[in-house]
Amino acid sequence: MQKSVVLVGIMGAGKTMVSNSLANHLHCERISTDEMVEKKEGRTIAAIFQESGEPYFRQLEEQVVREVSQLQGWVVDCGGGVVINPKNIANLRKNGILVYLKTSPEVAYQRIKNQSHRPLLKVQFPLDKIEELVKSRKRFYEKADFIIDTDQLTVQDTVTEVLKILPNE
Ligand code: S3P
Repeated sequence: MQKSVVLVGIMGAGKTMVSNSLANHLHCERISTDEMVEKKEGRTIAAIFQESGEPYFRQLEEQVVREVSQLQGWVVDCGGGVVINPKNIANLRKNGILVYLKTSPEVAYQRIKNQSHRPLLKVQFPLDKIEELVKSRKRFYEKADFIIDTDQLTVQDTVTEVLKILPNE
């Protein structure tokens, strides 16, 4: 596999689980932009948002996206907001096939409602927030090379769908 597979989509789309399983199937490495940011900073995303603010997080994110864009043949799990910066999309396209794991706000919310580590969802009505983000980001997510609607799919089904769109090498 020459190109990387770059997974984008809203929080709760299943990017982390799908990326892990996909990397196993493809016998390749996996990397997560969020995990890289946390490693670089030595603190969690929640702490970065709280102590330094979202714009600072977005700068770090841009930097790590630039780094992962150099890789070939990896599976890349992107934070849900990576796509809003056009530089990130341009960089990721260099060596990557972008796959949008499309998920409705309701399904995304059901998948993550018991998790508490996402700063953008620490609000009174997280489902409303997810709806707002999906709406405002739709046009960015849809810049992906492929779109897979994950609402009715298990993680394994989604991996199967991703494998179908990859060039045979
Ligand atoms: C964000 C999504 C998160 C993380 C950060 C911001 C977003 O990643 O990057 O909390 O803006 O949608 P996941 O999509 O992996 O949860």
